[in-house]
Amino acid sequence: MSVTEQTAQSLVDLGADAALVEKLYAELGELFDGELAQAASAEQVRALRDRWLGRKQGLLTATNDSWLKTAPRDLKPAVGRLQNKLKARVEEIVEQRGRAAAAAVVRAEPGIDITLPGPERVIGARHPVRIVREEIEHIFRGLGYSVFDGPEIESDYYNFEALNFPDNHPARDAMDTIFLTKTMLLRTHTSPCQIRAMEKTRPPLRYVVFGKCYRHDAPDATHSPMFHQFEAFAVDENISFCDLKGTLEHFTRQFFGASVRARFRPSFFPFTEPSAEVDISCIFCDGRGCRKCKQSGYIEILGSGMIDPALYGYVNYDPERYSGFAFGCGLERLAILKYGVEDIQLFFQGDARFLRQFR
Ligand code: PHE
Repeated sequence: MSVTEQTAQSLVDLGADAALVEKLYAELGELFDGELAQAASAEQVRALRDRWLGRKQGLLTATNDSWLKTAPRDLKPAVGRLQNKLKARVEEIVEQRGRAAAAAVVRAEPGIDITLPGPERVIGARHPVRIVREEIEHIFRGLGYSVFDGPEIESDYYNFEALNFPDNHPARDAMDTIFLTKTMLLRTHTSPCQIRAMEKTRPPLRYVVFGKCYRHDAPDATHSPMFHQFEAFAVDENISFCDLKGTLEHFTRQFFGASVRARFRPSFFPFTEPSAEVDISCIFCDGRGCRKCKQSGYIEILGSGMIDPALYGYVNYDPERYSGFAFGCGLERLAILKYGVEDIQLFFQGDARFLRQFR
């Protein structure tokens, strides 16, 4: 009986002892080596693999089932070791030969250079505006704020009227509004979300808003007709200007670094009273004065103020009971300062060489 025939018999039927088991596996090994020497083409290697490793008919599958599984207790460890050893060897050689045979086919094809590296897959990067947004969201979530969202196509009512911009007030012109119809427009800031959030919820409320804003500006290094803003606001009992100041100081230090100082300058917005423009100590010269801060030592970053009680009339809040603060700021502006970018247009050109620099 040949060794291949013997693979179908159990060791008990073969009357095997340790020595016979050794001999059976040695014969199988030699048989494999002989067949391997004959297998040159990819197809022959594949046939060899099926004959030895095939899941149903493979010789080593057969020995696994008829020899190993039913081996007497005292022979089992030796059978297992020999079975594994031969199987590992066959697998390794068949795989190696298979690869070599496939490569030989490719090499034989004229015009294909298999040593050339494959095409590089370009992996995208987070946009710097996105990075800044996520960082700000993280800071404000840490303070208990939730994210609120509003539409980019707004009505005159939310963008202006309910924010206390009187009809024909010059502050409307200052916004360089892009109108879609007589009453609908592309929002010029994220402040309409103050009204929308207050309409939807009752105090106490704390929200951050992120989103696109539009103004009729010619594009240059510092202007873009589309840009992003973020807005934070809180309404509750007993909120004072101190809360605004503390929140802004916390935010600017978290965002720009612990050594940054914030400065408040009186300003005007129709929807806040009092209003303040906030500057931070120049992050490029640490306040000593340089070209970036025009030698002033400070850089303007955002508008802020106590929510004008007139707004509460539009959302049915009791102005005697509630007070709140709000501030808003351009995200590109923050990214420009944080990363030292020279031109706002770079954010919108989608050049991967620029975008991949930010982590
Ligand atoms: N919406 C104002 C702007 O776009 C910024 C601002 C927001 C000011 C909130 C005060 C309070 O310039």
